Amino acid sequence: MTITDELQELRERGLAAIAGAADLPALEAARVAYLGKKSELTSTLRGLGQLAADMRATVGQHANELRADFEEALEQRKAALAGAALSATIESGRLDVSLPGRARPLGTQHLINAIKDEVSEIFFGLGYRLAEGPEVEDDFHNFTALNHSPMHPARSASDTFYVRDLSEEGAAFDGPEPSEILMRTHTSPVQIRTLQAQQPPVYVISPGKVYRRDIADPTHLPQFTQMEGLAIDEHLTFADLKGTLDYVVRKIFGEQRRTRFRPHFFPFTEPSAEVDVSCGVCGGVGCRFCKGTGWIEILGCGMVDPNVLVNTGIDPERYQGFAFGMGVERIAALRYDMPDIRLLIEGDMRFLRQF
Ligand code: PHE
Repeated sequence: MTITDELQELRERGLAAIAGAADLPALEAARVAYLGKKSELTSTLRGLGQLAADMRATVGQHANELRADFEEALEQRKAALAGAALSATIESGRLDVSLPGRARPLGTQHLINAIKDEVSEIFFGLGYRLAEGPEVEDDFHNFTALNHSPMHPARSASDTFYVRDLSEEGAAFDGPEPSEILMRTHTSPVQIRTLQAQQPPVYVISPGKVYRRDIADPTHLPQFTQMEGLAIDEHLTFADLKGTLDYVVRKIFGEQRRTRFRPHFFPFTEPSAEVDVSCGVCGGVGCRFCKGTGWIEILGCGMVDPNVLVNTGIDPERYQGFAFGMGVERIAALRYDMPDIRLLIEGDMRFLRQF
């Protein structure tokens, strides 16, 4: 085999090795083998001096061409491998920025709070302010100052949650101490706290939680929400009470609804009334929803008893006014024709999402 054939054979082997290098380390190994100090090509070039002069030029030219070809093949293979590595990185980290984002479920206001706010806004529009009081009350604010007699049945441990367990005292129970601490049974103690804190004119609305020792059923909850209203001024009459509630009830339930005031009794109002709204299902003729009466009870109200004013240091000769209390769960149940108010506290999203 001539030296030219040898170089040709070396070219084929070398180019095949370079082209076949699977990664950058394999390519470096091929470079060392075919262009390194100990490679066949290097020794051929070193040995040129021993060749006859006419051979030297041809072999030298071929060997140098071969070195240039190897170098070029190495560069090309290196670029190809680097490109493949980049493509692999891009492929493995693929991110489709055109995909829509993941939606987070958004919370919303509970129906009870929404109605509370809506009704408050109606009263704010009439010039009422917000008043608040504690849910853990004392007997004085919840009962005594509101003109309840010491043995009033609402004070019994079977109706009211006392913070001290009075039921353990069993048969010995003969009415709580005036200092007794309890969960307020209505928002009316806020009337007392407001009148203790400020002189008339007073126009306040007070929404909040109240507690009664009731078993939950379709129309009762042991904890529910009331909205108390109180107006004390110099010339207020029952006509102001009627006009105010008539307006508010129509705002809540719709302009076509009518109200009816029925005589009632509350210890802290005199005279007192329960207010009915005309049935929204039958329009007042009578149906199953309103139990055939055409009316649905919606709130309690009355002219503030002078004793309440005296109890809070306000002159009943100069001032008088009215108060009312309504149940928010009841408004919700009537407005949305709910069969069971327990739905409002169960947290079932299928129900709550409707509002
Ligand atoms: N506090 C009464 C109740 O819970 C409602 C009411 C409030 C009645 C104000 C008259 C005046 O039943």
